Amino acid sequence: MTQLRGIVPADAAHIAAAAEALKAGDLVAFPTETVYGLGGDACSDRAVARIYEAKGRPSFNPLIVHVTGLAAAGDLAELPPAAFVLAELFWPGPLTLVLPRRRNCRLSLLVSAGMDSVALRVPAHPVARALLAASNLPLAGPSANPSGRISPTTAQHVADGLGDKVAMILDGGPCRIGLESTVVSLLEDVPQLLRPGGIEVASLEAALGCGVALAPQVGDVAAGLHGPGRLLSHYAPDRPVRVGAVDMRPGEALLAFGPTALTAQHMANLSPAGDLTEAAANLFAMLRTLDRPGITGIAVMPIPERGLGVAINDRLRRAAAPR
Ligand code: TXA
Ligand code: MG
Repeated sequence: MTQLRGIVPADAAHIAAAAEALKAGDLVAFPTETVYGLGGDACSDRAVARIYEAKGRPSFNPLIVHVTGLAAAGDLAELPPAAFVLAELFWPGPLTLVLPRRRNCRLSLLVSAGMDSVALRVPAHPVARALLAASNLPLAGPSANPSGRISPTTAQHVADGLGDKVAMILDGGPCRIGLESTVVSLLEDVPQLLRPGGIEVASLEAALGCGVALAPQVGDVAAGLHGPGRLLSHYAPDRPVRVGAVDMRPGEALLAFGPTALTAQHMANLSPAGDLTEAAANLFAMLRTLDRPGITGIAVMPIPERGLGVAINDRLRRAAAPR
C-alpha cells in the first residue's frame, strides 16, 4: 500500500491523491452525509477483498456501491420504474436501492457477496461526489468501522477504528445525518425495506404511491433471510446497552432524550429539545463518548418510534442485542 497519511483535509489536492490511491487498489475513507465510508474500487476483487479484511466483515454480507448518478447506476444494474421514481426524489441522498445486477457488468462479484443483486447509492456529500468524479470509479463503501462496532461520524472515529488500514482519511467534518442510508430492495414487485435509515418509509410510500414491505426486524427468527447484513448484534459499544430506560442502575452512564430528571455521573442528551433529526446526528458520537472504562453500562431513554426514531431505535436495539 502507498504510505499511510492518516487524517487529511478534504481539499482538491488530497481528493486527487485519494483518487489515485483508489485507482491503485488502495482504500480511502471518505465522508458522506450519513456516515464515513471505507472506499475501494468496486470493480477490483482485490480492493473489495481488502475492504472485507480491514473491517473483519463476514464475506456473505455484501457492500453498498456508490455512484455519481442514475446513468452510472443504469450501467451496473437494471432499473425498474420504481428506481426512476425514487432516484428522482431522493438521489443524491441517504437512499440505497438493491437492484438486479447487469450481467457481465464490471463490478466485482465479491461486492455482491456472490448474489445477482447490487446495492447502489448516490451520496450527496460534496467530498464523496468529488471523489467519485475524480476517480471515475464506482466505489464500494461500507461504513468505515470494524464490523459490528459503532459507525463513524467523524474522521477521528475512523482513525480510532481503522487508522492503520486506509491510505488516508478525507476529513469532511461531522456527518450531517449521522445514521446510515435507508436500504430498499426493488428485486420483487413490492418494494421491501431492508434497513431503516436517513429517509423515512412514509416518504418512500408517498413517492411510490404504494406500500413498502418491512423486512424481518430485529429479534425475528427469520431476520437475515432478505438482508444479509441484518446481523443482530451491531453498532455495539464495548459495554452493555439498556434501551427504554426510565430509571438508572448503579454505575450506568445515561444517554438521555428530551427533557429529563434522570442524572448520572456520565451523561449526554441526544436532543434536549426532543428533536429526532438532532438525535440521529448525535447518536453514534455520544455512544462512543459514554462507552468508557468504569461504567457498568449505558442506559438509553425511550425514543419515539416515528420518523427518524425508527432508524435510531433499530440501531439501539442492535447495540443492546446479545453479543
Ligand atoms: O449510509 C450508508 O449507507 C453508508 C455510507 C458509507 O454510504 N454505507 C453503509 O454500508 O452503511 P454498509 O456496507 O455498512 O451497509 C450495507 C447494507 C448492509 O445492511 C447490507 O447487508 C446491505 O446494505 N446490502 C448490500 N448489498 C445488498 C444486496 N445485494 N442485497 C441485500 N442487501 C444488501
Ligand atoms: Mg455498517
